[in-house]
Amino acid sequence: MATATLKINNRSVSLPTGLFINGEYRKAQAGKTFPSENPATGEEIVQVQEGQAEDVDEAVRLARKVFRSKEWTDFGAMNRAKCMHKLADLMEEHFEDLLAIEMIDTGKTRTQAANLDLPGSIGTIRYFAGWCDKIYGQSNFGINGVFGYTKKEAVGVCGQIIPWNFPLLIFTWKIAPAFCCGNTMVIKSAETTPLVALKMCELIDKAGFPKGTINLVSGYGKTVGAAIAMHMDIDKVAFTGSTATGRSNMKAAASSNLKKVTLELGGKSPNIIFPDADIERAVEWSVWGIHMNYGQTCHAGTRIYVHEDIYDNFLSAYTKALKAIQVGDQFGENDQGPHNSKAQYDKIMGYIKQGQDEGATLHLGGQAVDSKQKGYFIQPTIFTDVKLDMKIMKDEIFCPVVSVAKFNTEEEVIELANDTTYGLAAGIFTKDYERAVRVTGALKAGTTLVNLFNFVNWSMPFGGYKESGIGRECGEAALENYTETKTVYMNMGMAAPPVGPSRG
Ligand code: NAI
Ligand code: MG
Repeated sequence: MATATLKINNRSVSLPTGLFINGEYRKAQAGKTFPSENPATGEEIVQVQEGQAEDVDEAVRLARKVFRSKEWTDFGAMNRAKCMHKLADLMEEHFEDLLAIEMIDTGKTRTQAANLDLPGSIGTIRYFAGWCDKIYGQSNFGINGVFGYTKKEAVGVCGQIIPWNFPLLIFTWKIAPAFCCGNTMVIKSAETTPLVALKMCELIDKAGFPKGTINLVSGYGKTVGAAIAMHMDIDKVAFTGSTATGRSNMKAAASSNLKKVTLELGGKSPNIIFPDADIERAVEWSVWGIHMNYGQTCHAGTRIYVHEDIYDNFLSAYTKALKAIQVGDQFGENDQGPHNSKAQYDKIMGYIKQGQDEGATLHLGGQAVDSKQKGYFIQPTIFTDVKLDMKIMKDEIFCPVVSVAKFNTEEEVIELANDTTYGLAAGIFTKDYERAVRVTGALKAGTTLVNLFNFVNWSMPFGGYKESGIGRECGEAALENYTETKTVYMNMGMAAPPVGPSRG
């Protein structure tokens, strides 16, 4: 199967372009390919094999065969851990290749990808490698005549559908806990960012992962994604992406084999600045809160509520900081690269227009960046005078488009913050620790943050309340998604209970 040589910013990087099934790169059965483009130029980087339902079937068949095999059972926890550590070593060795691929395919700057995506991915693999031999159940000696215990068993074949905003990081969030618990899997990368997963499979093979344990079928959502969600022999699906597609995956699971579903979906996270906050720190972290990965993150702090006493001060410092952000080619000396695709660009520009049409004040930005290139560049944007029922206050925009509003009391701002169908993250800035404990307790979100924003670590659970998702990724909590609990009762000499009619 063909390996392409990509020229990325004066670096030569080899990239296999096939589907990765049973430890080898293959052509798609239908013989089709699709392009991935560089969002800074709109130009094609390379064509990769485009899977379809029949390729998913083949990958699942082989993943199932491995899952049932004695070789896989015998492989054992320590060998799984060894492969994972070896993979992390190879990722460190190939750091610059992975970085170049991720930058060109997504539009991420070096600062973003080298400081966050890559270390986060390597850390995730190493963290879960450590869990491989620590997955066990409980014993119960408290039942008379019977000894009971539980086992944690692998779920089986997992279907994993990932998005384009963190193609490498979320790839590792999916494969690491699934593999460490002993599952086999079929992964689908996002159609606009298929490249880094292809490179990762090369490293997975080199690291000695048994063939067929991790399979990759690149392709589109409506074909490959839907085939995974509907598959009768996939035991569990883990999805990260939009709430609408998450919903459709859940429906597909319900109408096929009731496979287990975990979802990591959108957000519209509130960020509250109390009057006693350290304003400088609040500005710094609120910039990161919306600007990390240029707002293409489900955690982004897109609704900023500022106490009326400090509103003007905060807004002027915050505006100055966002205004200073340099937007341009991801390989240049810029703070912000292009957005990931034409579809995202059009969607974002549509929201900016709608915000103005609905009467919000466009306080900063709102324009496509003037660039000689054809890429998808958008200025960081601030709206003020926003109302609760405006679309820009309800929907996830996935860009540094932020709404800044005033509040007066703690009770009022808790109401405002929770007035959303989402519940992924919520942050507050205050020096009052009693308030910090009280307010984080009242916020309906899977992650709450005090005096920082957009902070995630692989060792802590990540996931959402309400329509932001089901289940948790990262941390020990992720193991729940990838294991079944089996109860075992052992008779310790107890006679069977009497049967038949009671006499006398
Ligand atoms: P999407 O949810 O449609 O795509 C995510 C993944 O799902 C991709 O791999 C895609 O191919 C796959 N997919 C699409 N249709 C499918 C189907 N019918 N069955 C199974 N899989 C399917 O998201 P999209 O269209 O790329 O982005 C739209 C919006 O979603 C963004 O603007 C953003 O608001 C949100 N989003 C949220 C993410 C998060 O991290 N929570 C990640 C990506 C997008
Ligand atoms: Mg791309």
